[in-house]
Amino acid sequence: MNEWAPTSWRSRPVEQQPEWPDDHALEQSLKVLSTLPPLVFAGEARGLRRSLAEVAGGRAFLLQAGDCAESFYDFTADSIRDKLKVILQMAVVLTYGGGVPVVKVGRIAGQFAKPRSSPYEVVAGERLPVFRGHIVNDDAPTVEARRPDPSRLIAAYNQSAATLNLVRAFTKGGFADLSQVHMWNQQFVASSREGQRYEAIAGEIDRALRFMAACGIDLQAEVGLHQVDFYTSHEALILGYEEALTRKDSLTGTWYDTSAHLLWCGERTRQLDGAHLHFLSGVNNPVAAKVGAEAKPEDLVSLCDILDPDREPGRLTLISRMGAKRVETVLPPLQEAVRRSGHPVVWACDPMHGNTFVSESGRKTRHFDDVLKEISGFFSACAATGTWPGGVHVELTGDSVTECLGGAEEIFEDDLELRYTTTCDPRLNARQSLDLAFRVAELLRRG
Ligand code: PEP
Ligand code: CO
Repeated sequence: MNEWAPTSWRSRPVEQQPEWPDDHALEQSLKVLSTLPPLVFAGEARGLRRSLAEVAGGRAFLLQAGDCAESFYDFTADSIRDKLKVILQMAVVLTYGGGVPVVKVGRIAGQFAKPRSSPYEVVAGERLPVFRGHIVNDDAPTVEARRPDPSRLIAAYNQSAATLNLVRAFTKGGFADLSQVHMWNQQFVASSREGQRYEAIAGEIDRALRFMAACGIDLQAEVGLHQVDFYTSHEALILGYEEALTRKDSLTGTWYDTSAHLLWCGERTRQLDGAHLHFLSGVNNPVAAKVGAEAKPEDLVSLCDILDPDREPGRLTLISRMGAKRVETVLPPLQEAVRRSGHPVVWACDPMHGNTFVSESGRKTRHFDDVLKEISGFFSACAATGTWPGGVHVELTGDSVTECLGGAEEIFEDDLELRYTTTCDPRLNARQSLDLAFRVAELLRRG
C-alpha cells in the first residue's frame, strides 16, 4: 500500500461527502479545526483497545449506545445526563444479570454526520437536498437550510467538547458512583415494570456493598465502584473533519483520530478501494465497521485485512446489522470466514438499522419485537459458529419518546406523533432500552 497520511484518503474515491458551496470557507474551517486541541487522548483510545481486546477474548461485553444523530437543538445538561443514566442502568443490568464486565461506549460527543441513501428528498412537493446531520446542514425543509455550511464543522467540534466535558464530569465526579445506582432510575421509568425490576437489582447491589463494607473491605479505595470508564464514538463520515483532528501521538509517534475514542465506517462507505476504509486504516484508535446482509465473506475478510493487518484483538469491531429476518442465515458464513482468516474481531449486533420501515403516517420507525428478534438471532448465529456475542449497538435516548413501536408500554402507529423528536432514525426510549438490557442479560446468562 502507498504511504498513509491523514490527507491520503483524498486520492481515493469518496462517498457521501457534502457538496460544500464554498471551497475557501471549507478550507478556513478545516484550518481552524486543525489548530484546536484534541477532544480525546491517545492513551484513552489505547485503554479502550485493551478493553475491547477483553471483549474479543470473550471476557467482556460491549454496550455502544446513543443518538442516531446528535442535534444542535437538543444540547442541554439534562438531556446528556438522562442519556447517561439509561446507559449506566443498562450496563448495571448487563453486568449484574449477564455476569460480565461491560465496556461502555456512547454514540455521543461527535455523532453528527449522517450517510443518506439519496442526495435529494421531496418534502410537500418540493425537491430538497437531503439533511446530512447538523455538522453539514440544517434539517428545516427549505433549500436555504439544507445548504452545507462549513462553519458547522467548528460548531460540531465545540458541542462535542462541551458534551465530553459533561460526560467526563458525570462519569468521574460522583454521579456514576455505584452508591447512586437508584438515582439513575428516572421517575417515569421507576414506576414501570422494567423500572421496578431495575430497582430490585439496585437494592441487591446496595446490600452487596453493605455486606462487603461489613466484612472490612475498604470500598472507598475501590476506584471501580466510584467511577466509570465511558468512551465516545461516531461514524467517521466527513473525512475533512476527521483529518483535521488527526494528530501524531507524542508518546508512540503514531496517528490518532482525536475526535473520538472509537470511529466506525458505515454500511454505505465501506468500499474496499474507498477513502473511508483507507482513512481508518491509518489511525491507531480502535475502529469498527457496519456489516449489512449483502456483505460477501471474501470482501469482509479483505475489509479486515485493511483495518486489522496485524490481527490485534481490540483493534476491529464488526457491527452486524442484517435485519431480524436474515441475521440467522446470513451471519454464520461471514463469521466463519472471518474466523478462518485469523482476525480476532469483536462481533457486535446493531438490531436497529436492518429493521427500519416507514409507517402509514410517513414516520420512519422500528418495531421493538424486530429489535429483540434480531438480537436473539444474532445470539443464535454466534452459538452456531462458536463466536462470542460481543456486544450490542443501539440508538436510544433517555427521554420518553414515541419513535419505536411496541415495548411493554405498547407504542402504536398512532402514538408516533406524540413525542417523535429524533433528527434522523427512531430511537428506543428509556423504558424500551432498559427492557432490552434485561433481555440481553438473559441471553448472556443462557449462553
Ligand atoms: C447509523 O448507525 O446511524 C447508520 C447510518 O448505520 P448504517 O451505516 O449501518 O446504515
Ligand atoms: Co441511525
